Amino acid sequence: MESLTSVDKSRIQHAFQKALNSYDEHALIQQKMNIKLMMHLQDYLPNGSLDSVLELGCGSGMLSTLLQKQISANYWLFNDLCDVRSLLAEKLIQPFDFSCGDAENFSFQRRFDLIASASAVQWFHYPDNFISHCKTGLKPNGLLAITSFGEDNLKEIRQMANVGLSYPNLSQWQNWLANGFELLWCDDFTVILEFDTPLDVLKHLKYTGVTATNRKNWTRKNLNKFIDDYLQAFSLPSGKVGLTYHPLFFIARYSHAKNQ
Ligand SMILES: C[S@@+](CC[C@H](N)C(=O)[O-])C[C@H]1O[C@@H](n2cnc3c(N)ncnc32)[C@H](O)[C@@H]1O
Repeated sequence: MESLTSVDKSRIQHAFQKALNSYDEHALIQQKMNIKLMMHLQDYLPNGSLDSVLELGCGSGMLSTLLQKQISANYWLFNDLCDVRSLLAEKLIQPFDFSCGDAENFSFQRRFDLIASASAVQWFHYPDNFISHCKTGLKPNGLLAITSFGEDNLKEIRQMANVGLSYPNLSQWQNWLANGFELLWCDDFTVILEFDTPLDVLKHLKYTGVTATNRKNWTRKNLNKFIDDYLQAFSLPSGKVGLTYHPLFFIARYSHAKNQ
């Protein structure tokens, strides 16, 4: 099986750039995850406005919009591999800066009260180093709020097409956070989305940008085999086919005293 520990960043950028216009309409799970994250984040936000907020891998701005509705901050910085500055400008209500590039080694020019990231860190090559790197970008007691995916995410695609990311599980994230962070809240669960056909599953992945892992050369023959095998393995009693999502969340506080 080709389980990918890392995907070339230019492939990621290309796949998400192509999906930018279809993303919001099709990324229903990701938006539900954003809403859940915001609900829990409000328990830990200080009263009043924040000085500064950074969002990494903001994409088309689904979480960005929710963040700006809920939080008032003096300074906002958004980042993505794709240049989404003008897309954000159409949606956001508070002034912001945008920094295009790789979030994994983000060059922090200041420290933030909150670093948020939704459905992006599973693409990072070294998520453990990323957690450690965030300490240089957070103020003492600053918050790190993340959504990502666990090991069962899109497991049907992994099984059928032999491709997929290697997702860290929640306890790995907890271990990485143990050095320097206080874990305030975390959760994970699985949910099965239903589609009319296996072809609709593939279209869904394309519209949400999850094609960077796809190194398969689709021929008519292997596409037909994929469809037959998928129907056989993942048909549901409803007559539809299933696709598993495994959302994962955590909110942690950079606890300066705990840091070594
Ligand atoms: C699934 S979208 C998530 C969009 C958005 N955060 C949301 O609220 O749903 C993932 C985004 O992460 C970005 N991304 C992936 N790896 C990245 C990296 N290393 N640095 C910056 N952005 C990255 C992609 O370009 C894409 O826009």
